[in-house]
Amino acid sequence: MKKYLVTGCAGFIGTNFVYYMLKKHRDILLVNLDKLTYAGNPANLEGIGNDARHIFVKGDICDPELVSSLFGKYDFDYVINFAAESHVDRSISDPGVFVRTNVNGTFNLLSKAKDAWCDAEKNVWREGKKFLQVSTDEVYGALGKDGFFTETTPLDPHSPYSSSKASADLFVKAFHDTYGMPVNVTRCSNNYGPYQFPEKLIPLMINNARLHRPLPVYGDGMQVRDWLYVDDHCRAIDTVCSQGKPGEVYNVGGHNERTNLFIVKTVIDVMREKLGDGGISENLITHVADRPGHDRRYGIDPTKIGRELGWYPETSFEDGIVRTVDWYLDNTGWMESVTSGAYLRYYEENYGSRRKLTADKGFSE
Ligand SMILES: NC(=O)c1ccc[n+]([C@@H]2O[C@H](COP(=O)([O-])OP(=O)(O)OC[C@H]3O[C@@H](n4cnc5c(N)ncnc54)[C@H](O)[C@@H]3O)[C@@H](O)[C@H]2O)c1
Repeated sequence: MKKYLVTGCAGFIGTNFVYYMLKKHRDILLVNLDKLTYAGNPANLEGIGNDARHIFVKGDICDPELVSSLFGKYDFDYVINFAAESHVDRSISDPGVFVRTNVNGTFNLLSKAKDAWCDAEKNVWREGKKFLQVSTDEVYGALGKDGFFTETTPLDPHSPYSSSKASADLFVKAFHDTYGMPVNVTRCSNNYGPYQFPEKLIPLMINNARLHRPLPVYGDGMQVRDWLYVDDHCRAIDTVCSQGKPGEVYNVGGHNERTNLFIVKTVIDVMREKLGDGGISENLITHVADRPGHDRRYGIDPTKIGRELGWYPETSFEDGIVRTVDWYLDNTGWMESVTSGAYLRYYEENYGSRRKLTADKGFSE
C-alpha cells in the first residue's frame, strides 16, 4: 500500500485530489495535513465519510515536530505539497504569511522528508520515495501576445505570491541537486471546478451573478489565462507522482487561453441558460481598478508531460464550465457557508475600495 502525506487538502485542488485518488486507487493511504486557514474547509471532505484510507490532521506544514511525528508514524512513500497561501490579492496586502507558509513550510517538509528517507551517513536514499511540489505557471512571469512558457523558461515572478512559489520551487531543486532527493515540480495554469473558494474569478462570478450583484472585473478584463479543469490537474499530479523522472519539472496546461472578460461573459451565458433568469446579464459587469503589477498573459506549453508521460487534458472548457456552474448551483449551502463572516470583510476591503472604471474614460482611473 502506498502512503501519501498530502498537504492543504481541505482547499480547492487538494479536496478534488483526495476524491480523485480514493476513486482511482483501492490500496492507498492519504494523510491530509491542513491548517484550515480561511481557504481550508473541513466540510469539503464530508463526502469521504468513514473511509479509512483518508486521515485528516489539523496542523501546520511549518511545524517541525508535527511533520516529524507524522513521518515516524506513517513512513510515507510520497509527499505531495498543495498547502499554500494561494491568492495574489492577499499576497499584495499581507506578503509575510506567503513567505512563512509557501517558503518556510515547503523547506520544513523537504527537511523532514530528507531525515526520513535518506541515510545521512551513507547518503543513500530509500527506494520508491518522492517529493512532489505543486507549483504554478505564475513563477514564469508574464508573456506578451505570443509564445508560451516551457519548463526551461527562466523564473521571473512579479507578485509576492509567485515569488514565494518560485522560492519554494528553488528549494525543491536544491534538495535534488545537493542531496539527490527524488523530487518533481508541477507548474499548472489556472484551475477551475468544484470547491474553489469564491475569491477566485469563476466562483466569485457565479456567486455574484446568482445574487444579481455587480461582477467586478479588473481593468479592461483582457488579461489572458490558460484554464484547466481541476480533475485534469489531479490526474496530471497522480501521473507525475508515479511516473515522473526524478528532478524534472512538468508544465500542466489546458490549451485553453481565454481573457478574463470572456470567462465572465461565459459564466453569465451558462447561468442564464440554466436559470432562465433575466436579471443575470452583462449589465452586471463592473470594471474596477486593476491589481498592481497584474500580469497580462500566461500561456503554458504542456508538450513535455504529454510526450514523456502521456498526459493530456480531457475536459473541454465548454464542458468543464457547465459542470462547474452546475456544481455551485447545486451547492448553494456550501457557497453561503464560505462567504459569510471573515469573507465578507475581505470582500469589502478588496473590492469596496477599488475605484469603478467607466468605459467612456477608456477604462482609465
Ligand atoms: N488554484 C489554481 O488555479 C492553482 C494553479 C496553479 C497552482 N496552484 C497551486 O496549487 C496548490 C493548491 O491551490 P488551491 O487553489 O487548492 O489553494 P487553496 O488556497 O484553495 O487551498 C490551500 C490549502 O492549504 C491550507 N494551508 C494554508 N497554509 C497552510 C499551512 N501553513 N499548513 C497547512 N495547510 C495550510 C489551507 O487551509 C487550504 O486548505 C497551491 O500550492 C497553489 O499555489 C493553484
